[in-house]
Amino acid sequence: MSRVAYVNGRYVPHAKAAVHIDDRGYQFADGVYEVIALIKGKFLDEVGHLDRLERSLRELRIAAPMGRRALSHVLRETVRRNGIASGIVYVQITRGVARRDHPFPADTAPSIVVTARRIKGPSPKAVEEGIGVITQKDIRWERRDIKSISLLPNVLAKQEARENNAYEAWLIGEGGVVNEGSSTNAWIVTKDNILVTHPADHSVLNGITRLGVLAAAKKIGVRIEERSFSVEEAHAAKEAFLTSTTSHLLSVVTIDGKPVGNGHPGEVTIKLRQAYFAHFGLKDGSFL
Ligand code: PDD
Repeated sequence: MSRVAYVNGRYVPHAKAAVHIDDRGYQFADGVYEVIALIKGKFLDEVGHLDRLERSLRELRIAAPMGRRALSHVLRETVRRNGIASGIVYVQITRGVARRDHPFPADTAPSIVVTARRIKGPSPKAVEEGIGVITQKDIRWERRDIKSISLLPNVLAKQEARENNAYEAWLIGEGGVVNEGSSTNAWIVTKDNILVTHPADHSVLNGITRLGVLAAAKKIGVRIEERSFSVEEAHAAKEAFLTSTTSHLLSVVTIDGKPVGNGHPGEVTIKLRQAYFAHFGLKDGSFL
């Protein structure tokens, strides 16, 4: 089945899908996005993602191109036309097409693009053995709570991770605090079995997976502290892991090459991973 994209009201062959060169997304990264996981025909927390999308739009004063019900229909229709049961749906909304000038243009309609594709997800090896992260200075802007398409610092950090054979880069903010990863939220489990992750303030994206894991942790009675933690505390932790729509929940077993805990995925992390999928009525989160 050939790929189809939704672009501003029309379903078009993916290879021909295009936006204008004066789109403000292209010119200024003046837009927002969402990535939603689809597992065996079911979106994982569509409501959470659409809530966050609407919030990002409001924060940047970009008009919603359509109502929520219409958007929800477009997401499903894009999935259907691509014949996908498991994978991801990508939604991008920008302030629209206008002659290049910094201030908001008057009377410009927002642009919207929706694509869907299969993904493999993390390898069984990454799930079973865990992954390594490196640390990098967080050089992003101060509104990381907005899911903006302006991702250059994230791209550079992820590339640095790849070049160092690491899965992710943890971005370090003021005072040596671990904010989050370049495209994931960061977590530790302390020696007292307390689950710790950065509070959902302006320094991090409030991950939808993050919220799902917090809900799952509450359900199974894991103690939670939403507070920042340092790299030193992460090194000394019993367990560490990361979360995102495409990675779900993966054990972090090394930070800058040094083992976390005993260097193997920890029991709290494994329990939380199961509880997270159970929260969505799934046995596992395989994209295959
Ligand atoms: N990344 N932090 C950042 C900076 C992110 O870009 C993401 C998501 C997350 C995790 O959020 P969620 O659980 O809602 O996926 C945290 C997406 C998947 C991406 O850019 O592809």
